[in-house]
Amino acid sequence: MDRISQLTHSVLDDIDNCRDLESLENLRVKYFGKNGVITSELKSLSTLEKEEKKEIGKKLNLIKNTFFEKFEKKKKNIEVLIINEKLKEEDVDVSLPSRENNYFDSKIHPITQTINEIVSILGALGLTYEEGPDIEDDFHNFTALNIPENHPARQMHDTFYLGKNSNDYVLRTHTSPVQIRALKKNDFPLKIFAPGRTYRCDSDLTHTPMFHQVEGLVVDENINFANLKWFLEKFCRMFFDNENLEFRFRPSYFPFTEPSAEVDIKCKISSGKISIGDGNQWLEILGCGMVHPNVFAKVGIERKLSGFAFGMGIERLAMLKYGMPDLRNFYDGDLRWLNHYGFSFLDNSDLSWK
Ligand code: PHE
Repeated sequence: MDRISQLTHSVLDDIDNCRDLESLENLRVKYFGKNGVITSELKSLSTLEKEEKKEIGKKLNLIKNTFFEKFEKKKKNIEVLIINEKLKEEDVDVSLPSRENNYFDSKIHPITQTINEIVSILGALGLTYEEGPDIEDDFHNFTALNIPENHPARQMHDTFYLGKNSNDYVLRTHTSPVQIRALKKNDFPLKIFAPGRTYRCDSDLTHTPMFHQVEGLVVDENINFANLKWFLEKFCRMFFDNENLEFRFRPSYFPFTEPSAEVDIKCKISSGKISIGDGNQWLEILGCGMVHPNVFAKVGIERKLSGFAFGMGIERLAMLKYGMPDLRNFYDGDLRWLNHYGFSFLDNSDLSWK
């Protein structure tokens, strides 16, 4: 066997014997590195006679091509082996759903669906969408809403305070601070609503530490309680898709509204099931009232204005409308629950107000 054929054999044998990426790379350097065996052979070609040069050059090129073809194949093989070894050692969560081709199986969470419905209805009733931050300062969450320090209403809210020793920042306990942010724009008439997350340090059958509210605020020169009543009745009838819904406005107390009321709707509760619209029991669904003059004063509004505000719990609205009995399931992240109570993203039948 001539020198070149021998070289070919040893090169290919060497590749076969490689077991890891490092030795494979060493091999590449050994033959084709700067001072590699074949690199030197190629360099010394120039010293040969024309015919010999042609013949040996051809053979060397063949070795080179074969080498790199085999080299790439071997590299891939080793990489696959490494991944397989890794997979053997690591736990794979086989319960994770596959992401391929099942877009149509995915579901919209009832909270998202309910917010979309509320956005659509309040939008159709002429309010515009506003947002506020989840992390609020004391002024927007309390003081400006006529809840001074040491006011018992602060305890009522089970506030999550942020920071070590100050009450400067809180996780907002309601969406009402968005009222203040909207009023500060000083642009009237003002007609806004603001859905979003709210937080209270409370967790039991009917409370989760994070929940959702939607706030509404309408301010102009001659807004009165009749406007408030008309508006909320209209909203509820649209939301529950029931023109005959009956209401009860009950006097209540909120520091930032005067007078204040809570609204109940008529319903039937039998064997743990609630049906809205008939029966003779009352269920509270929202808080509301006329904007307290102190609130206007706190944001420096001197014009003679009046307005109404309301706030509702979105989980509660969703549970009532869609007959979901247990609040805690909303945030369990259980796919079986979502498959049952979730909505298809193509189902916009409830969003036809626009
Ligand atoms: N912020 C009140 C709450 O969380 C609800 C409310 C909003 C009441 C606006 C009156 C007006 O309970």
